[in-house]
Order: sequence, then C-alpha cells, then structure tokens
Amino acid sequence: MEKAEIGLIGLGTMGSNLALNIAEKGHRIAVFNRTAARTDAFVENAGALRDRVVPCYSLEELAAAIRPPRPIIIMVLAGKPVDEQIAALRGVLSANDIVIDAGNANFRDTMRRFSELASSGLTFIGMGVSGGEEGARHGPSIMVGGTEESWKRVEKVLTAISAKFKGEPCAAWLGTDGAGHFVKTIHNGIEYADMQMIAEIYGILRDGLGMGPKEIAEVFSQWNTGRLNSYLIEITAKVLAADDPKTGKPVVDIILDRAGQKGTGKWSVIEAQQLGIPATAIEAAVAARVLSSIKDERLAAEKAYGGGVSKISGDRDALLGDLELALFAGKIAAYAQGFAVMSGASKEFNWNLPMPVIAKIWRAGCIIRSQLLDTMAEAFGAGGAATNLLMAPAFVSLMQEAHPSLRRVVASAAEAGSPVPALSSALAYFDSYRQGRGTSNLIQAQRDFFGAHGFERIDGQGAFHGPWGSGAAG
Ligand code: 6PG
Repeated sequence: MEKAEIGLIGLGTMGSNLALNIAEKGHRIAVFNRTAARTDAFVENAGALRDRVVPCYSLEELAAAIRPPRPIIIMVLAGKPVDEQIAALRGVLSANDIVIDAGNANFRDTMRRFSELASSGLTFIGMGVSGGEEGARHGPSIMVGGTEESWKRVEKVLTAISAKFKGEPCAAWLGTDGAGHFVKTIHNGIEYADMQMIAEIYGILRDGLGMGPKEIAEVFSQWNTGRLNSYLIEITAKVLAADDPKTGKPVVDIILDRAGQKGTGKWSVIEAQQLGIPATAIEAAVAARVLSSIKDERLAAEKAYGGGVSKISGDRDALLGDLELALFAGKIAAYAQGFAVMSGASKEFNWNLPMPVIAKIWRAGCIIRSQLLDTMAEAFGAGGAATNLLMAPAFVSLMQEAHPSLRRVVASAAEAGSPVPALSSALAYFDSYRQGRGTSNLIQAQRDFFGAHGFERIDGQGAFHGPWGSGAAG
C-alpha cells in the first residue's frame, strides 16, 4: 500500500479537523488514536477523503504506514500526555523522524522536549495552531518553532493547510525550539485582552446605556464594517444576536458570568513579568477572568457595597463613537504590549523572532485576525515599530486620534461604576509610556530614604544619597 506522507496522533476535534484538512489538500495521512473506536468513527466520517486516510491501531502500525523520515503531528492534551506520547513514540521512530506537537504547550516544555529529543536523533517541532475547530478544518494560522531544516521538510504540507491572506499562507517558521509555542502563547494573551476589552465595552452598553443584546449586536455589527473589523467583533455581534432555544431569551443573558481559562493567558503574564516587559492590559484581562470566577464572593460584595452601574448620559451617537475609538486605542496598546513581550523574549532566548512575519500570519486563520494586523505588518515591515508598536508613525497617528476617546470612556466608566480593567490599564500604559518626566523620582527618593539604595541625579553621573538625616537608613 502507498505510504502516507505524514501521521497524526489524537483524533479529538482539533486533531480530526487538522487531519481532514491535510487529506483535503491532497496529502495521504496515517492516523492513530488511543481509543480505537474513535479512529473507526473518524474514518467512517471522512467521506470523500476516506481514500487518503490510513487508519492505524498501534504506534508500530502508524510508523510502518508513513514514509521515512516521518513527520508525525501529535494533538493531545497539553502537559503530561504530550510527554507520555513522545516516550511511547521513541520506541517506534528512527533518526530524523519529526515529532510535531500542535497543542497549546508551554514553550518551556517545548524547549525541554526539543533538547531531549535532539540527543536521541529525533527532531522536535513545537507548533502553535490558532483558529479553533473551524480554522483547523479549513485553514488555521500556524506558528512553527524548531530547526529551520525540519521546517523545510514540513513546509509544503503546513503552508497548504494554513489560512491564506490575499493568497499568502499564514504559516511560518519563527525560530528554534520554543519560538512557535511562545508566539502562540502571546497570541492567546492578546486574545484575552481583546476579548476582555470587548466585554468591558459590552458592559458599558448594557449597564451604562441600558441597551439590550440585540441592540448591542447591531452596534458591534456596524463596528465590524469599520476600523474594528475583526473576527472577534464579528462573532461578538453574532453571539449577542442569538436566542436560547430553551427559553427564547437572548443566549448571552442566560450564560453564567464566570470565565474559564486553560493557562496561556497566565503564561503570557508570567513570562512578561520574568522578562521585565509590562503587559498590563493582558494582566488585567487574566485577573478579570479570575475575579469573574469568584461569583459567590462578588454576590456577597454586591450586597455589602451595592453593585449597580449608574446610567451614562450624553449624546448617544457621540458616546458610541467614543466607545468604538476607545476599543480601538485599547487594542493598539494591548498589541504593543504583546509585541514588546515577544521582542524581549526573542533577545532572551536568541530566537530572532520576525515581527513582520508574525503580524502577517495573524492576518487570517487565527482568533485575533483583524484588519488592523495588516497595518501592523506594514509598520513592522517598514522598521518603524522596532522599539514599540506605539512608536511606528502610522500608529502615532492612530493613537493621536483615538486616545482622547479612550480617556473619556475610562473616565465615564469609572464615574458610573462600570469596571473597565483592561481598557484603563491600556490607557495608563499609554500615558506612562508617553510621559517624559514621570513620578518615579519620588520612588527613588523613598527607596533611598528607607534603604539607602541611592539614586541618579538629573544633573550628574553616579549614585547619590539624599539629605535625609537621622531616622533615615544608611
Ligand atoms: C486559538 C485559541 C485556542 C483556544 C484557547 C482558549 O488560538 O485557536 O486561542 O487556542 O480557544 O485554548 O483558551 P482559554 O480556554 O484559556 O480561554
């Protein structure tokens, strides 16, 4: 029988969709799942693609079905299952075979696996895949980390299955070992901030302006035709317009306000802190999910303090215009932070991450795809965003136009009692970033007062101490 070009382990929703996508693009694929019944079901549902799928019922069978050197994608739960799968594969693979982890792995695990496998002659690729089920089936955004040589060997199939933006594939090699999974992690961190800011604007529309879900859906749908055009705004409009079949009520009104999270947002924040790069909008978004999860405490606090949001008055069209621009400005700040974290990590881990390429492969297929990413790709390509996206000339103009709205929205929301943690963090980041003379001169004085830590002077080189006298340290 003709050998398969590639293998895939783990026929959950993402794995199955990825396998069908690969088969559809004309590649013969061998598949394996721990539970044989799932493999059978997959083959049964493969329809016209059935001929390109080779079902396997053991790892030995899988290895024998693929033409060496074998590329094998594993799409299992992140963490221990990945290590177990790799350990099991070691027994059946040979030198130069490539193990590709397509799950949402922590990039530090990917780095470890990369070096562990390298010593055994096998090659490891950590591959970030974004786009959810639909993306996996019809074209995800693919972020690859590993050796360039291993990328070259799988480039054809990965670019074939990836999303395309105006014909350009949204798949790229981004650097060695953990680069792909790191970039996917930051993608998700930005996704958290994007989603949180949208939810904050929804909160203002719902509670501050007293609008119903259908009316809010209209607003988002309208925004989706303009500068905010993006997948997340598009699905927000759809979600808000949908009714619950059971009660007939808007579905968003019957969903419990407790957000889940699987870890990538938290990892983004941890790594940002480790690198010393502020990612305040992403931090706020992660914290907001945590706060959302303590529903009982929030209900008790509402009893103690009152939790109502006051109505926001004013010209409705002007308010809506401000909300649109505020979301736009907040989004720019969040992306600036995400890209800054990637730039810090790139230096720290010697990845040489190609920022224009990252912006490009996020333009289609992934969850954060948006019109704005095309402008970012141009800004990074032109070199103007090397220090920070906020310094790229195109973004200076965009922020000049949008930040007054962000300011007004954050101020009205604070006044009304409508929480806007990510938007206000984004604003504070922007204001701190553009303040040539900040306030940490006072922090330095305090540190010197109680700890004799010393400070620099504006008019001289070296370390100095203040005239604190008795009672001060030192
Ligand atoms: C994507 C998504 C995907 C997944 C996240 C959601 O890019 O396709 O980000 O990876 O939906 O795991 O993460 P949380 O469960 O943490 O929200």
